[in-house]
Amino acid sequence: MQLVIDSANIDKIKKLIEFLPIDGVTTNPSIIVKEQKPFFPMLEEIRYVIGEEKELFVQVIATNAKDMVEEAKYICKVLGGNVLVKIPVTMEGIKAIKQLKREGIRTLATTIYTPVNAYLAAKAGAEYVAPYVNRIDNLTGNGVKVVTEITEVFSRHNLSCKVLAASFKNVQQIHNVCLAGAHGVTAAPELIEALVEHPSIEENVEKFRKDWFDQYGEESLILNVKK
Ligand code: G3P
Repeated sequence: MQLVIDSANIDKIKKLIEFLPIDGVTTNPSIIVKEQKPFFPMLEEIRYVIGEEKELFVQVIATNAKDMVEEAKYICKVLGGNVLVKIPVTMEGIKAIKQLKREGIRTLATTIYTPVNAYLAAKAGAEYVAPYVNRIDNLTGNGVKVVTEITEVFSRHNLSCKVLAASFKNVQQIHNVCLAGAHGVTAAPELIEALVEHPSIEENVEKFRKDWFDQYGEESLILNVKK
């Protein structure tokens, strides 16, 4: 199951890449503009930090299929490497996904709100769909249920498209989409860090260390223990 950072903030990406098993970085236009930096140099910096292998997702701005396809090609040409182009699932977007599939450009269908959105995108040739869990919840829908149903449709009908669940407000939503069979999650750095947090962990570690130090002394570490 993939764990992806939904951010363009280079310092936060650096930190998470160093510590956690991260598979890639997703961006969208709102995430990009938050950083107030030139577009391609920022993405190139992200590529440098995450390495050549990890997936980097970049979204188109155009709204008609022809321009989306041109933007997708341009993004791939400038950035190279393991890049996937995010395309919103409008009619034009689905047309663009079909064409990009024919041309060998990998896509993620974004702004997924229903299982049928996802079905269409998968059938058109998207490699991933990104259901917007929290935004669905905010519309009094059930984001986790949408993810469950998408994974069920894909599995029942042998669609090889993967579900990269997106838009989270809390850890519980992430946990629930893991149980729902999502192939991955993309979340803000703060939420990814929150996956590690539990007050009992620090407390337990402190107790283990105290027990050890009580017996072997404050300065002792295992590397100092004679065989
Ligand atoms: O890329 C989609 C995702 O970033 C949306 O997340 O938190 O803005 O709903 P959010």
